Amino acid sequence: MSLDQNLNKVIIIDFGSQFTQLIARRIRELGVFSEIISHKKIKVKDINQSVKGIILSGGPLNVYQLNKYSFDSKILELRIPVLGICFGHQILSKLNGGKVKQSKHREFGLANIYKKGNSLLTKNFFGKKKSKKVWMSHADQVSKLPKNFKVVSSSSNSKYAIVENKLKKFYGIQFHPEVTHTENGKKLISNFIFQICKIRKNWSSKDQKIKLIKDIKLKVGPDKVICALSGGVDSSVVAQLLNKAIGKKLYCVFVNTGLLRKNEEAQVVQTFRKRLKMNLIYVNAEKEFLKKLKNISDPEKKRKIIGNLFIKIFERYAKKIKNVKFLAQGTLYPDLIESKSVTGSETSKIKSHHNVGGLPKKMSLRLVEPLKFLFKDEVRKLGLELKLSKDIISRHPFPGPGLAIRMPGIITNEKIKILKEADYYFIQALKEHGLYHKIWQAYAALLPVKTVGVMGDNRTYEYLCLLRAITSEDGMTADFYEFKKSFMQIISNKIVNSIRGINRVVYDVTSKPPSTIELE
Ligand code: XMP
Repeated sequence: MSLDQNLNKVIIIDFGSQFTQLIARRIRELGVFSEIISHKKIKVKDINQSVKGIILSGGPLNVYQLNKYSFDSKILELRIPVLGICFGHQILSKLNGGKVKQSKHREFGLANIYKKGNSLLTKNFFGKKKSKKVWMSHADQVSKLPKNFKVVSSSSNSKYAIVENKLKKFYGIQFHPEVTHTENGKKLISNFIFQICKIRKNWSSKDQKIKLIKDIKLKVGPDKVICALSGGVDSSVVAQLLNKAIGKKLYCVFVNTGLLRKNEEAQVVQTFRKRLKMNLIYVNAEKEFLKKLKNISDPEKKRKIIGNLFIKIFERYAKKIKNVKFLAQGTLYPDLIESKSVTGSETSKIKSHHNVGGLPKKMSLRLVEPLKFLFKDEVRKLGLELKLSKDIISRHPFPGPGLAIRMPGIITNEKIKILKEADYYFIQALKEHGLYHKIWQAYAALLPVKTVGVMGDNRTYEYLCLLRAITSEDGMTADFYEFKKSFMQIISNKIVNSIRGINRVVYDVTSKPPSTIELE
């Protein structure tokens, strides 16, 4: 295995935690380069001069399950500062002669920790109260501290919540500083990087752009790439990255599934073919999709059908262009963790996102997914760096399966037509009232129920339209947006008065979790 030779960096050794990518993200936010490497792959000989700090991630294992993980303990003899988080803290203690055992009380969720000693790691972390709320998630804990380690902080259940061996620059944290629930957690990571490892800032959106372009060139070589372009933020950023990396060897395929938002196909063609001058192949597959989806109401079936058909269509067009070996997709990190585990640990499947779960097992194209370790807001910054228009960059996310998953029950032409209009009026109203950019994602959905209404002197019996608008940081958790009553009145009147087929509008007031952002 090879590490990037030049940049000073932190290595994150991954033991399968679902938060490993969050650690990397926090380090990127601090303006520093990091690389994630599986515990199974990293050996002491791989660690060169550029590695200035090592972070051992959490993970679902127990430090005594020696056959389930591997770790080259010579890494700890390199005199490089080490920060162990959760399982990483336990393994660091064990390898230094401490003991770990199952806790009497498993700790999941918020806990208070208290300052017990000074440390560079906690400089300006605790504040006057000498206490902080932190996010714990562990069943085991360190029960005996190794020689020359001291306690920096404890909670009522974890005596060794933060520990250090100042001389060796080894630090252990039982909780998760990388998650937002931990108050001021980023300060701990920042102290480790800047105060202890003494790394200087060396990483920005521009650096990230350059590295991604370089990686694409390396991966793709002389071959051609077909890119699944939807016109949304993610695939637009991917297309522009590839455009910069390989220019005319990129072929963007835009499939009109018939399940897009109103006027979307015209806008995409205008932007990518006319303005950005990319090779754009427009495929009108409306009929094909609707035929396959006829009478299907199960959400997972809809997703699978759409995902599979998408890939089939790509392959069909890929065959027409010689030497296409790759398919580029705008998969993001949250798409991956919700569909399957990327770290090797088991996480439960919530939905099959169409760009992941829908892939057939035998695909004849290799994947290029340059955004798969990034979060949405990072992709937006990257898009600005790539000089994409603000219109594209700040667009609300739109899922691959499109309106199909905003229309519980079976899909019909009539429903699609109604839903396109409702969504259009809602989004227009958000823009007109200056709300669009305050909201992370908003859409209209059509529920498969009809209710009675009265218009003029007539009884109506029409569909129920659900509006959803949420705030979020990365789509992994979300809160519903609180509209003023006046806005809700305006939009409900507009929809009911303008669209034949809807006579009632409701607003979704659930957060994620327990709901998800989409309905299906
Ligand atoms: P959920 O509904 O899982 O949505 O809370 C989280 C975010 O992911 C988007 N989403 C998808 N994006 N393909 C995509 O590209 C999909 O199959 C898919 N399903 C959901 C959703 O719109 C939200 O932004």
